[in-house]
Amino acid sequence: MEKIIEEKKQGTTIKPNQKSGNTRKLYIESYGCQMNFSDSEIVASILSKEGFNTTSSLEDADLVLVNTCSIREKAELTVRKRLEKFNAVKKTRPHMKVGVLGCMAERLKSQLLEEEKIVDMVVGPDAYKDLPNLVKEVDDGRNAVNVILSKEETYGDIAPVRLNSNGVTAFVSITRGCDNMCTFCVVPFTRGRERSRDPQSIVEEVNDLWNRGFKEITLLGQNVDSYLWYGGGLKKDFKDSTEIQKATAVNFSQLLAMVAEAQPKLRIRFSTSNPQDMTMDVIETMAHYNNICNYIHLPVQSGSDRILKAMNRLHTRDEYFKLIDNIRKIIPDCAISQDIITGFPTETEQDHQDTLSLMDYVKYDFGFMFAYSERPGTMAARKFEDDIPHEIKKRRLSEIIEKQLAHSLYRTQLHIGKIEEVLIEGVSKKSDTQWRGRNSQNTVVVFPKENYKVGDFVMVQIDSCTSATLIGTALDYSENN
Ligand code: 5AD
Ligand code: SF4
Repeated sequence: MEKIIEEKKQGTTIKPNQKSGNTRKLYIESYGCQMNFSDSEIVASILSKEGFNTTSSLEDADLVLVNTCSIREKAELTVRKRLEKFNAVKKTRPHMKVGVLGCMAERLKSQLLEEEKIVDMVVGPDAYKDLPNLVKEVDDGRNAVNVILSKEETYGDIAPVRLNSNGVTAFVSITRGCDNMCTFCVVPFTRGRERSRDPQSIVEEVNDLWNRGFKEITLLGQNVDSYLWYGGGLKKDFKDSTEIQKATAVNFSQLLAMVAEAQPKLRIRFSTSNPQDMTMDVIETMAHYNNICNYIHLPVQSGSDRILKAMNRLHTRDEYFKLIDNIRKIIPDCAISQDIITGFPTETEQDHQDTLSLMDYVKYDFGFMFAYSERPGTMAARKFEDDIPHEIKKRRLSEIIEKQLAHSLYRTQLHIGKIEEVLIEGVSKKSDTQWRGRNSQNTVVVFPKENYKVGDFVMVQIDSCTSATLIGTALDYSENN
């Protein structure tokens, strides 16, 4: 159930990471998307070289960093609340310094220093390599700000410190920024222009993860399907690139194939896909390689053509259906999940019904659903009045969530009676005699532990389910071990 309605991970703190010789303690908290969690691992890596070990205890910290999200107003309010808490702790640890990283840092810049007196340092998502200098400034008693966005920075040369890791699954970022300009979205302003990371550095990171025992990776980007490497820089410059650069360019389906071939036993996932950029090549590559999981997160945002246009989504309802049909034709058991926004400006009851009927057509396996939250500076904020009353947004949202719950249950039930490969990630949240893992479709599966261990691929007979969890019995090791 929580998978369906919960905002993507909130405020997870980290497990300690120790390097001998380091004397200072860094406490880092991350909010928002997986990219932010992945960025915190880059930040920990950069600061580890500056003498900082991570700590999971706020009360022990010399430096407190909060990696923030601006996607909805609520995400920002959560961070402001946490800053109040940090303020209370600082009273007992006056030397403790506080830095704000990520999207709020980029959106509000030095304004944050004025509004939140506790904050010593403001660092945007492309400025983390400057952290050693910024920390020195702060140590010398000055405030420090770097919110410069980059056209090239991908952190491809930084080996992330795996924080809060189960040792089995890891994120590997492949693009940064976004060029899509959906009118509701703050991301193009906070994360800048889209750029792709050198495929060689991606494959090296993936190989290294496999050698260290990781069994599954998720390739991350705001829009992975528009990945394009031709030697660096922005994608728009590709049209002016040389013939050699064009001939040796690597797109997303080629990158997927490179990673799948580099480590044929490693499970590969990716997120997020944008409907207008997802090509048949990608779907065919997924079908071709056994180790690429059958799961696509494919946000739609609305089922109404008029609203899709107002959102600048660059595809129609019909085009989306065609893409869904193609996915189902080529990968019949592919799980598909959505993001939907309800109550976008001018949304009528008919538009809302269109969203519900689109959901009926697709019958998504999972979903992340949100009420529209106006973000300052976006095209939607400039062009439209936020005119859907809170009560109506709330009612439409609950109708959408209710439908998603029914569809999730329908999809989950389809697994009953099947034998599926599950990668064990840890102990079940409900029972410590059971393992918890996921199948290829990303559905959580729980089953009795027996002699299996974390990181094993196990063939599991699915016996029953709730709307979000499959319950089964282990049959044997998978040959993928
Ligand atoms: N209001 C509500 N939800 C939003 N999202 C992005 N911007 C907004 C906004 N202004 C949602 C979209 C996106 C997901 C990450 O967050 O559904 O896909
Ligand atoms: Fe939040 Fe978007 Fe920034 Fe991720 S990129 S942290 S979702 S605003």
